[in-house]
Amino acid sequence: MPVITCIDDLKALHRRRAPRMFYDYAESGSYTEQTFRENTTDFAKIRLRQKVAVDLSGRNTASTMLGEKVTMPVGLAPVGSTGMQCADGEIKAARAAQKFGVPFTLSTMSICSIEDVAANTDKPFWFQLYVMRDEDFVDGMIERAKKANCSALVLTLDLQILGQRHKDLKNGLSAPPKFTLPVIMDLARRWQWCMGMAGTKRRTFGNIVGHAKGVGDLSSLSSWTAEQFDPKLDWSKIARIREQWGGKLILKGILDEEDARIAADFGADAIVVSNHGGRQLDGALSSIRMLPHIAKAVGDKIEIHMDSGIRSGQDVLKALALGAHSTYIGRAFIYGLGAMGEEGVTKALEIIHKELDTTMALCGERDVREFGPHNLLLPKDFL
Ligand code: FNR
Repeated sequence: MPVITCIDDLKALHRRRAPRMFYDYAESGSYTEQTFRENTTDFAKIRLRQKVAVDLSGRNTASTMLGEKVTMPVGLAPVGSTGMQCADGEIKAARAAQKFGVPFTLSTMSICSIEDVAANTDKPFWFQLYVMRDEDFVDGMIERAKKANCSALVLTLDLQILGQRHKDLKNGLSAPPKFTLPVIMDLARRWQWCMGMAGTKRRTFGNIVGHAKGVGDLSSLSSWTAEQFDPKLDWSKIARIREQWGGKLILKGILDEEDARIAADFGADAIVVSNHGGRQLDGALSSIRMLPHIAKAVGDKIEIHMDSGIRSGQDVLKALALGAHSTYIGRAFIYGLGAMGEEGVTKALEIIHKELDTTMALCGERDVREFGPHNLLLPKDFL
């Protein structure tokens, strides 16, 4: 076992352990991957301001997300097919998040169902919903999320049409996967992963299979999904969902100031400034570049969350300084899960937490909630 000291170490181990098809699924962006790349390279352009001779005792990294107390302002983003990176992946990630004291968000496209996760964890989690054409399915999901005691609904708005990821097509990624000779040979090398999968009895894509009209088994899932994302999604449909849900609502996938104003006036509880980790609109600006503009437009009206590109505690602090109230990690926890299961997700959270605490201190701050623009040195052309 290599010594793990940073998120990149978990990524290298994930790459070694998970089948190529699933590692590539996580580690890719749409089309040319420009936005995917810039989500991380833009973070590196922001520099932190060092301060010395400050009392650094009694530091605080705790904050809140939607009023829930969190160990640090970093949640786990919804990630589809998490359970393919590691058997029972959603349950393991949720447990790690709950023990650490940060929110876990279950994707509509998860392998373990909402009921599987609820039955195998202790605390409420958040549920992410995609708006589908079939309103009965959407209503059914909302009712299931309520029954499972989910404490927030994350409505994803940036995936009504699917961005293409070249690697997935080339690897034959579909539900069920295409078992070509290279895929079989690759699986033969990942015996630990195969043993884990052989030991789980859960229904694959349990939120959908057996619950959506026309999806009795896995063979019909890919075609159902491709047709089901509702291209007519508009604010009236979002209002209908808000009514039906009645609880805390987060709108995810806002990357434009005008959309942010509409979302704030609409009365959502939070927005997530996100470009879906560079998996949808290739050519969009990175989330971290758009964040200060959106914060300026609506920061006093609504809680602003941010994701896309966060790989370290330093990145989290940069996002907070540019106007995010809190953040999410997607791939950073997936690397941990694919590398070492639940322990790997815990490791990812510990790494980010430690980096956040140390970096905050070296910037002369004792409380994460005080981290602000005064802690940054921005290049002239950044804003
Ligand atoms: C995602 N994301 C995502 N978002 C969502 O709302 N529902 C989903 O099912 C998925 N599925 C998904 C799968 C994979 C493999 C990835 C990497 C991402 C987007 C996710 O919630 C988040 O916005 C990004 O992951 C953030 O970017 P980073 O942290 O991965 O760079």
